[in-house]
Amino acid sequence: MPATFIIFGASGDLTSRKLIPALYKLHCKKRLKGGLRVVGFSRSPYSHDEWRNELAETTKKFAGEDFSQPVWNDFAKNLFYHAGDIEHPADFDSLSDFLLEIEAGEACTRIFYLATAPRFYEPAVVHLGDSGLAHEAAAPRRIVIEKPFGSDLKSAEHLNEVIHLVFSEHQVYRIDHYLGKETVQNLFVLRFANTIFEPIWNRNYVDHVQITVAEEVDVGKRGGYYDRAGVLRDMFQNHLLQLTMITAMEAPVRYGADPVRNEKVKVLDAVRSITPEAVASDTFRGQYRGYLKAEGVAPNSRIATFGAVKLWIDNWRWQGVPFYLRSGKNMSCRTTQIVIQFREPPQKLFRDSPRSLDQSNRLVVQVQPNEGIQLHFQTKVPDAGMDLRQTDLDFDFHSEYHRALPEAYERLLLDALEGDASLFARADEVEAAWRIVDPIIKTWQETDAPPLLPYDAGDWGPLESAQWMEAQGREWFDNCPVLKRPAD
Ligand code: BG6
Repeated sequence: MPATFIIFGASGDLTSRKLIPALYKLHCKKRLKGGLRVVGFSRSPYSHDEWRNELAETTKKFAGEDFSQPVWNDFAKNLFYHAGDIEHPADFDSLSDFLLEIEAGEACTRIFYLATAPRFYEPAVVHLGDSGLAHEAAAPRRIVIEKPFGSDLKSAEHLNEVIHLVFSEHQVYRIDHYLGKETVQNLFVLRFANTIFEPIWNRNYVDHVQITVAEEVDVGKRGGYYDRAGVLRDMFQNHLLQLTMITAMEAPVRYGADPVRNEKVKVLDAVRSITPEAVASDTFRGQYRGYLKAEGVAPNSRIATFGAVKLWIDNWRWQGVPFYLRSGKNMSCRTTQIVIQFREPPQKLFRDSPRSLDQSNRLVVQVQPNEGIQLHFQTKVPDAGMDLRQTDLDFDFHSEYHRALPEAYERLLLDALEGDASLFARADEVEAAWRIVDPIIKTWQETDAPPLLPYDAGDWGPLESAQWMEAQGREWFDNCPVLKRPAD
């Protein structure tokens, strides 16, 4: 069935940087079966051609080598622009007429994509309902909603209520671009298409898990937004908890939207509530030096740009195994890693060896960059008595598959078009995630526990974070990226 993809917030950054390049690449790969029309909706007064020309320039920049003028021309024939204001109900009626006109009586799947500022989500949903645009009759109607989905549990619940008055849950696609990353999807495959990991993927063999999303960039021009969000809302409520769920979940009964999401939600439901006392001991926060001078940031801001949180998952698989989640801006490098640290051997047979055994028995999933997997283990150094050394087995996506990994949005937009919600968050999932981070945000706002510590650009967060781990008998895995390429 042909589809029409309607973008609210069409003149914005997300549209030109991510959505159009992703749709264009899907067109290049001939993945858009049935044909696709794209309609941009925003207040700026563009003609169809003006919008097409502007997007040609930006797509050239963001699609890089994949850009071909003839292929673009073919794609751009199906790009249309309709000016309108999200807050004006009459503009939705005229959008509805315009869609009927370009679809010329064909039954088309319609995807409404909210790429606007979050304050427009609610009016957009209400007006889509009132204008009849959300009504599923001859063809599917779906809505895709960008993050942030609410700013706390209450606002997320409210947004879900507003959405559910207009759309059924099966029509709703809450996006988290981390789920579109190949390496995140590969986690499902690593865990559930192999049997060798499953027997040891639990409290009997795992000492702890570290999930790090470190960013080299600072807040840049997004200070206005970031200073209200901070690292917990910006990264933990969504991306880090998504990685936690996939690392910790049970195998679903089959690979499909509901079975997968049922298992994911169970993980969040099993996370032990963090009391204000636990916030002081089990969380850690920092702010990089220079943050207060960023555009849009309050001069006395107490917002954390680095955070670490220790979570306990109280179920049979993970009881007693801490999950350390950490993320920050302006850190030493860009890396997203999941480290499964297995327990030490019960007996140190090679006690005279000068090497520590702590550095082995570890599986590292390198989500980005230099995507791959590394297994760390001890080997005997030849001809050196019983001297041991940590060595590794590497799997690197690029050397194995010799092609660039697709952008997360390509996969997610295609799934939304095809009606597969497996890689999108369900209503209960986002609410459960807010239920975990809300008490931490609240305690961080109200007390000085833990203190907000400064760190320099290029550090792994405040230096004290290493001591925080040491006090628990553990060590952060501060390596990036673990898989080296010849060019690195
Ligand atoms: C976004 C956050 O959701 O994810 C940004 O708002 C962050 O602050 C970005 O930089 C990180 O995404 P990625 O794909 O670069 O790891």
